[in-house]
Amino acid sequence: MKFKRNIIITGGAGFIGSHVVRLFVNKYPDYHIFNLDKLTYAGNLANLKDIEHKPNYTFIKADICDFDKVLEIMRQYQVDGMIHLAAESHVDRSIKDPFTFARTNVMGTLSLLQAAKLYWESLPEKYDGKLFYHISTDEVYGALELTHPEGIKSEISAHEVYGDDFFRESTKYTPHSPYSASKASSDHFVRAFHDTYGLPVIVTNCSNNYGPYQFPEKLIPLFINNICQRKPLPVYGKGENVRDWLYVEDHARAIDLIFHQGKIAETYNIGGFNEWKNIDIVKVLIRTVDRLLGRKEGEDMDLITFVTDRAGHDLRYAIDSSKLHRELGWKPSLQFEEGIEKTVRWYLDNQEWLNHVTSGDYLKYYQEMYQGR
Ligand code: NAD
Ligand code: DAU
Repeated sequence: MKFKRNIIITGGAGFIGSHVVRLFVNKYPDYHIFNLDKLTYAGNLANLKDIEHKPNYTFIKADICDFDKVLEIMRQYQVDGMIHLAAESHVDRSIKDPFTFARTNVMGTLSLLQAAKLYWESLPEKYDGKLFYHISTDEVYGALELTHPEGIKSEISAHEVYGDDFFRESTKYTPHSPYSASKASSDHFVRAFHDTYGLPVIVTNCSNNYGPYQFPEKLIPLFINNICQRKPLPVYGKGENVRDWLYVEDHARAIDLIFHQGKIAETYNIGGFNEWKNIDIVKVLIRTVDRLLGRKEGEDMDLITFVTDRAGHDLRYAIDSSKLHRELGWKPSLQFEEGIEKTVRWYLDNQEWLNHVTSGDYLKYYQEMYQGR
């Protein structure tokens, strides 16, 4: 069957990538979706069990740093769109091992850009109808101040706002962690390929995502799992840091909209207008897990354990996503309380997935299955 579009989604076996792959495979049966993923510790094909047999879906085990292979895949499948999510994504790991982050996030992105450029330039129509869509993070903008530490009600936020300032598309890049420095560098390469070679690119910078299939090293799934098992909850510093949380399916919807209607060379910020202090989220998680497990609501508050702060810990992130709302009509669909309830229920109902991931069993299974391919 000839497909209308052939699209590579990199990092499709990861948390956000798997939601984007699922959305595209189900919504666009006339597109062929190639999920290109190296299956690092964070990649798990069990995230895509429900769509893996669809005729418009193909998994390709590959490293984005392998330029020759990426170019060969683009030629073989006549790829006209790239949605690039593959990355090393955990800040704490970047503090321990910055080299891996530079390799994957910087060199890997460069390898994809160069492959897309060479392949698309070789076609008679060149860049017509092509798109390199790079998924980035709000962390590249650095950190905002807590000018209202107690929080104030704001018209633009469904919840509290903790400062006067927001990350806008025009905000200067000031990354602090090796992770955000590597993502900032990759964003610069993407824009440089547009400005130098005319490669059609779009960049989006999104706030913290939460929802099903997130690897339980990140705050929300780690803490849900620990509360279930009555293990300590390691809150960094005093838990005063603020993050802006977005339900992962809302991010995937934004990516779909921007992929189809975004303007070439533009940047769009994506966020939930949903700021929370870490300690407040932790309390919501405890109450929700306790209630859903039939425990007395709040009885696990004593699991909260304040530990040494993360080095270079950014104080506050808050995205202004009004450009995306104004120009393309996107806004988050879920209130945070609703999203958290759905998320906690999902982890409680998917203990097998969680056990598989925390034990590392999935790694052995899929790595053996795809060895040598
Ligand atoms: P994740 O860690 O859950 O998944 C990353 C995926 O990339 C995994 O499937 C992994 O196997 C794959 N991968 C890693 N290195 C690779 C390589 N060299 N070649 C091919 N595949 C490789 O990440 P996530 O949280 O889903 O984040 C996805 C993207 O979104 C990242 O680019 C991240 O920077 C960005 N982002 C994440 C968030 C968030 O809150 N999680 C927010 C904003 C932006
Ligand atoms: O803002 C977008 C970013 O959000 C993405 O680009 C990253 O890929 C993603 O990992 C996430 O980064 P954070 O560092 O904000 O997420 P994390 O879940 O690691 O931490 C959220 C907050 O909770 C942060 O302030 C650190 C704190 N924390 C985290 C962990 C894992 C704790 O207090 N204890 C913990 O054990």
